Amino acid sequence: MDELRKNGKEIGLAVIIVGDNPASRIYVNNKKKACEYIGIRSEEFALPESTTEEELKSLVEKLNNDDTIDGILVQLPLPKHINEETVINTISVKKDVDAFHPVNVGKIMIGDYDFLPCTPAGVMELIKESGIDVDGKNCVVVGRSNIVGKPQAMLLLHKNGTVTICHSKTKDLAEVTKNADILVAAVGVPEMITGDMVKEGAVVIDVGMNRLPDKKLVGDVKFEECEKKAAAITPVPGGVGPMTIAMLMKNTVKAATLK
Ligand code: GUN
Repeated sequence: MDELRKNGKEIGLAVIIVGDNPASRIYVNNKKKACEYIGIRSEEFALPESTTEEELKSLVEKLNNDDTIDGILVQLPLPKHINEETVINTISVKKDVDAFHPVNVGKIMIGDYDFLPCTPAGVMELIKESGIDVDGKNCVVVGRSNIVGKPQAMLLLHKNGTVTICHSKTKDLAEVTKNADILVAAVGVPEMITGDMVKEGAVVIDVGMNRLPDKKLVGDVKFEECEKKAAAITPVPGGVGPMTIAMLMKNTVKAATLK
């Protein structure tokens, strides 16, 4: 980044948000704050709920061709009438700082990538910085989303973990999770991972971010119960969330460097 600055290069991130999903608004604000903090110019495009898929795609195409923009982020979820896949496919592979484009997803599969998806990459960074070796460990990922579960499993596999992906159709989930040396919860169900589902001494990583009716923010893991059994555990908020943003900053700087 200093090298880019020395060359008089400003880094630009375009952040697109459609509609007024309150959680998305908070995420986008946090991303913009992080940009400001490290000296990336962020440009927000806040579009109304009524935006058509064509209008959104036109904006993305315009940003693809804008030399002052290094990274493009379309905050998900999008309103129901817009096909997320179609929009993601429109983002330039070189500006895809979320690593959601199928080309970048494919590159991750074969282990030859420029960008890693921010949340799974943040989880791997937490694991690495905590001195936890994934090699040969039983890794269980609960959740199979394209954004977290699937790429998370792949990144753990790259580090030689023995990886199991669980989902809503998994039979006897607790039997599987109790085998996990490293357990990653990314389902979006408040506090569904309870203490009895965790092995003594496991590493528990909570990707969930759920707002309860009383407005309290909780993860997918029942922290007070799992904390008693885990060797290491991430809190919500303040665990994986800030790492996701840090990885977005990393990807944005990388996009600018690669240009
Ligand atoms: N919605 C939830 N997480 C993410 C993310 O990492 N990137 C984008 N673009 N949208 C999200």
